Amino acid sequence: MGKQGDYKVRIPLPLISTPSSSDGHQGGRSAMTCLYRCGNACFHEVPNTSGNEYVGDVIASALSRRSLMRTAAVVTVAAAAGATVAAAPQAHAATATAPTTSYKPSSKAARGLRYTPVAPNTTDAVTVPDGYAQNVVIRWGEPILRGAPAFDPERQTAAAQAGQFGYNNDFLALLPLGHGRQLLVANHEYTDEVLMFRGYDPANPTREQVEVAWAAHGLSAVVVEEDRKSGKLSAVPRHPLNRRVTATTEFRLTGPAAGSDLLKTSADPTGTKVLGTLNNCSGGTTPWGTTLHGEENFNQYFANSSRATDKRYGIGTGASERKWERFDKRFDVAQEPNEVHRFGYVVEFDPYDPTSTPRKHTALGRFKHEAATVRLTSDGRPVVYSGDDERFDYFYKFVSSKRMKKGASRAVREHNLSLLDEGTLYVAKLTGDSPAIEIDGTGKLPADGEFDGSGEWIPLATATSDGAVSHVEGMTAEEVFVFTRLAGDKAGATKMDRPEDIQPNPVSGKVYVALTNNTNRGVGSNAPADEANPRNANKHGHILELTERWNRPESKRFAWSLFLVAGDPADPATYFAGFPKDRVSPISCPDNVAFDPYGNLWISTDGNQLGSHDGLFGVATKGDRRGELKQFLTMPTGAETCGPVIQDRRVLVAVQHPGEITGATVENPASTWPDGPGKIVRPAVVAVWRKDGADIGV
Ligand code: FEO
Ligand code: CA
Ligand code: CA
Ligand code: CA
Repeated sequence: MGKQGDYKVRIPLPLISTPSSSDGHQGGRSAMTCLYRCGNACFHEVPNTSGNEYVGDVIASALSRRSLMRTAAVVTVAAAAGATVAAAPQAHAATATAPTTSYKPSSKAARGLRYTPVAPNTTDAVTVPDGYAQNVVIRWGEPILRGAPAFDPERQTAAAQAGQFGYNNDFLALLPLGHGRQLLVANHEYTDEVLMFRGYDPANPTREQVEVAWAAHGLSAVVVEEDRKSGKLSAVPRHPLNRRVTATTEFRLTGPAAGSDLLKTSADPTGTKVLGTLNNCSGGTTPWGTTLHGEENFNQYFANSSRATDKRYGIGTGASERKWERFDKRFDVAQEPNEVHRFGYVVEFDPYDPTSTPRKHTALGRFKHEAATVRLTSDGRPVVYSGDDERFDYFYKFVSSKRMKKGASRAVREHNLSLLDEGTLYVAKLTGDSPAIEIDGTGKLPADGEFDGSGEWIPLATATSDGAVSHVEGMTAEEVFVFTRLAGDKAGATKMDRPEDIQPNPVSGKVYVALTNNTNRGVGSNAPADEANPRNANKHGHILELTERWNRPESKRFAWSLFLVAGDPADPATYFAGFPKDRVSPISCPDNVAFDPYGNLWISTDGNQLGSHDGLFGVATKGDRRGELKQFLTMPTGAETCGPVIQDRRVLVAVQHPGEITGATVENPASTWPDGPGKIVRPAVVAVWRKDGADIGV
């Protein structure tokens, strides 16, 4: 079934099975993705064994020096008195399991979502709705800096790669430039060496291969030109604003932990300078014109650790997968113990200043940051939301104590670049409102008809211009900011099913949290289902909706409900905000989220467990179409959908790790996207637009 009518989007299942869905990996991900992207995170023990109990002894074993930072009086972490929430989440009980075939919608699909859904499929292509067109904006290896050579995968060098677009594009931002141009900023999360180098030997990488990989990580900024008649975008090589940031670019550590003993190394006795950024997953764009980038699975690049604090972050005891420690001792924890403390932060990048030194903000805590998204309180202070993408880990928010200034002067820009250095970091605790006995782990709705409840933001530490204050008993402020997972354990935060992207809806103000999956939920001694994570062995994930008085900086309480419980709509455990389930697209493993100009939620997936390739979906968040989920595109073989940006005239997506199927190599590719047979598979950015020149989905 290639086409779906507007109200006939129910897709027949079962779909085509893929090799990756049967080998025991999380969601439908290939074993190769697990190895290269996450360092097989899902095969390690769950790092959060805390039971949220006291972990001071764990920290004590990791700290050999006395903290320099001031530890102030501890406040109770449970008090968190605050304002009541602005509004209860929309009730959505009755329709969840009701017969739906007689449903007669009273209006057209939500504005922005009026397209014919794409059917699930396993085509090695980006498949878009009828009436839409696409182009590849930029591929791995395309030269963007002056002097960079044309891409030659048979003779790739580190010097060439440092001037070319990096590998495995994830987060994307488009910033305005005017005159028909925009500035594209992209994350390059990680490298797939077996798909990059002919004859790659994982046991014996060469120095050149390792240095190419360093240069293929990081960020790219590249100016793109808009086509006057369509949504097509074309890269502008050699533009002065084009820039590469790699695993060896100098960064400044800023905020409350900068300069602390925990961040000092033999190469940097100041604890304020670090080379490179690693595993940048998703991110965000700030209202002051910079971009934020989450350092996610940084643990996999480090070798030979035996410390308990490192175990909480999944850092291994033996050699690393890529063997970088053979070429730079900073990746060997046994030789350089604090280097690993300098990764796992939110990076801020000023794409309008190609000479700027990017920063790592310690005030936003150290964990596997999936993303960082920002909005301003009514008095102009940034609030940043961020998820820690690990099974049974937490999500966080940071509220700055400083106000954004308007203007473009150097002084204003410098002030705004310091906004994320002072403020309070909070972790989320969620409480369900239904009796625990009604949450049976199957996804069956409790008697009140909703997975919902209340939540609080528990303060962990506050950074000020005079120093920092810990709110966690037994931890100094610098320990909270460097070992943030341990602070969350102590605070009694709620263990979630892999909190990935988290983003406020700019139209409604509600916050959406994508929880990708957690097949360990309720398995063995792992935490059982709860109202916020209601399915044991959760392989399809869900989406949480938070309602809070977000414009008040002191807001510490929120209401929550599950907006979407993903899977095959025929599965009784799924839920689409009460919308009739025979009229939605199947979805599995929600990952990145974005909003269009109308406030519809767009969801990209990572690891479809329903036999289709990953995709991008739009769903209405309000009105009588709330919950109507429609697939907009699908990915090539092995690829994850990343970085969606939804503008009036175009949808921009990052096609990450195409061809990443277990056993695939340069010689034996699983995908030949985007250039066809005989050409090496290349991660790339794709723009999609309407052929008739009209806006997306209207
Ligand atoms: Fe890089 Fe959590 O995905
Ligand atoms: Ca309930
Ligand atoms: Ca992601
Ligand atoms: Ca992901």
